Amino acid sequence: MSAEASVTGVHVEAPSDRRRNGDPSSAPRIALVTADLDRHARDLLRAFKAAGASVKAIELADIAYDTEARHGLTMPHFGEDLPDAVCVRTMDSGSFEQVTRRLGVLHALSALGVLVSNDAVSIERCVDKSMTSFRLARAGVPSPRSWAVETRKEAERIVAAEKAPLVLKPLFGAQGKGLRLIESAGDLPAEEEIAGVYYLQRFAGSPASGRYGDYRVLVSGGRAAASMRREAEHWITNIKQGASAMPTEPDVELEALAVAATVAVGGSFCGVDLLRDANGVAQVIEVNSMPAWTGLEKASGVDIPALRVRDLLAALAASRARLAAGPLASAG
Ligand SMILES: Nc1ncnc2c1ncn2[C@@H]1O[C@H](COP(=O)(O)OP(=O)(O)OP(=O)(O)O)[C@@H](O)[C@H]1O
Ligand SMILES: [Mg+2]
Repeated sequence: MSAEASVTGVHVEAPSDRRRNGDPSSAPRIALVTADLDRHARDLLRAFKAAGASVKAIELADIAYDTEARHGLTMPHFGEDLPDAVCVRTMDSGSFEQVTRRLGVLHALSALGVLVSNDAVSIERCVDKSMTSFRLARAGVPSPRSWAVETRKEAERIVAAEKAPLVLKPLFGAQGKGLRLIESAGDLPAEEEIAGVYYLQRFAGSPASGRYGDYRVLVSGGRAAASMRREAEHWITNIKQGASAMPTEPDVELEALAVAATVAVGGSFCGVDLLRDANGVAQVIEVNSMPAWTGLEKASGVDIPALRVRDLLAALAASRARLAAGPLASAG
């Protein structure tokens, strides 16, 4: 094999040619992508250090393209070198152009053979709720029927054809903000109020003793790693909206669906929201590729930063072992 491989017409270095990835004995070098040095980021930094990794927090905004740099990128703390893995905690919001460029940087890092978790592809699939719904449906993961259209007229047609209430959500979620229950076409906002996209989902909530509830299952490394139940008087049960986080018994059906939903979006560390509808049928509501975990950690007792770090470093060790074993093992 040549030292370089052509991927979708773009010439990128084969991962096995990179000095660092070729030396599994060196301490893994991790870039923690985070918009702020909040508690989650600080806990992750501590957990990476405790696991023997060398870790630096960076903002995607500070990674530059430079076509004459060794890999086409320069990064704070790494210069023209690359980390072994990128752990994405949060991405800054920005203009359409800025967000496009930053996602492009994550795509580029994956193309360069850096382990990126979650990678840009899965982040894009989760950020756009209509794409999540599309992929869940294609994968046969139960989720309330959903539509995404760009005109009020089309949205009115859907609402009129439905007998039961729908939930209108911003295409890009904001921890329970901006959701509305739509019971008739008159409840639909104007196009400019919702950035020109009507994402509608059948309402599947069913209160028990006057309280609504759903489940958050955290999937990491291909398994359900922590769960909680969230309860509130209101049907929107985000912790940020005041819902209570409560411990819950492991539920193998919900856990299996959460894993299937994570696979459907191609994620490696995802927070999956699920509920049981009025018929008791489990439904996936959404998949988060940059989940926070304050409530979940308290309710489940799981040390989430330690878990995140362990699974990411295990994935990195597995990918280094595949590379060390040669091209046949890497291909398998
Ligand atoms: N189809 C639905 N039926 C019943 N309740 C719903 C439905 N969709 C959302 N909800 C309630 O609203 C909450 C928030 O919805 P959702 O998880 O889809 O978006 P979000 O949390 O605002 O998005 P993000 O996590 O991307 O910020 C859910 O946890 C659930 O309590
Ligand atoms: Mg949610």
